[in-house]
Amino acid sequence: MSGPTALEVERAVTVAWRIPGQYRRGEARFLYRLARRKGQIVEIGCYMGRTTALLVQAARMWGATVTTVDPFVPLPNGVEQATPDKWRAHLERVGLRPPRLLAVPSHEAARQWAGEIAFLFVDGDHSYTGVQHDLADWAPRVQVGGVIALHDMWFPSITGVARAVTEWWCAERDDAARGDSGAAWRCLGMRDYTIAFRRER
Ligand SMILES: C[S@@+](CC[C@H](N)C(=O)[O-])C[C@H]1O[C@@H](n2cnc3c(N)ncnc32)[C@H](O)[C@@H]1O
Repeated sequence: MSGPTALEVERAVTVAWRIPGQYRRGEARFLYRLARRKGQIVEIGCYMGRTTALLVQAARMWGATVTTVDPFVPLPNGVEQATPDKWRAHLERVGLRPPRLLAVPSHEAARQWAGEIAFLFVDGDHSYTGVQHDLADWAPRVQVGGVIALHDMWFPSITGVARAVTEWWCAERDDAARGDSGAAWRCLGMRDYTIAFRRER
């Protein structure tokens, strides 16, 4: 699979930027490049659709399928609440077909999910236990060679993500070193607040 040109990436980011959101441009380029693969792409936490727009565009090149999971919960600090209709309208307005939406909490969606995942993007419940559950429920479904990206790693006011990801990473690494776990993960790096890991076995 050849990588995208800088022009292709900038086009995708420009389209996504017509949708409201907090996601940053540097990490958007990183996310697009990571997600541009064959197979199933799963997004946990789509909000108004900015990162969905990146994933849908990345999926087009190799005919990947995108599923997004979001129960559209009320957000703190007066942040506008998204809805399925707003999410859908934003994507359609920029010329993208909305992908499959599971409008339930990720833990419930995981129970309905079948099949391997090529790319998993986690940006849903940012609490410590929320991220712990997402990693426990979804990481084992990522195929060998597949990638997990998580948002808000080390965002100053969101400490639960960093704690849950660090603990998961250390436990997986220690299990792999002992030969206890089926999985081994390599950290691919971080852009802005998005960190990524590839499953090596
Ligand atoms: C930070 S926003 C996602 C932003 C989006 N990824 C973007 O950058 O365009 C977090 C989203 O996670 C959703 N969420 C909260 N709890 C969730 C859960 N248990 N499962 C899935 N999504 C959840 C919220 O409804 C909200 O829309």
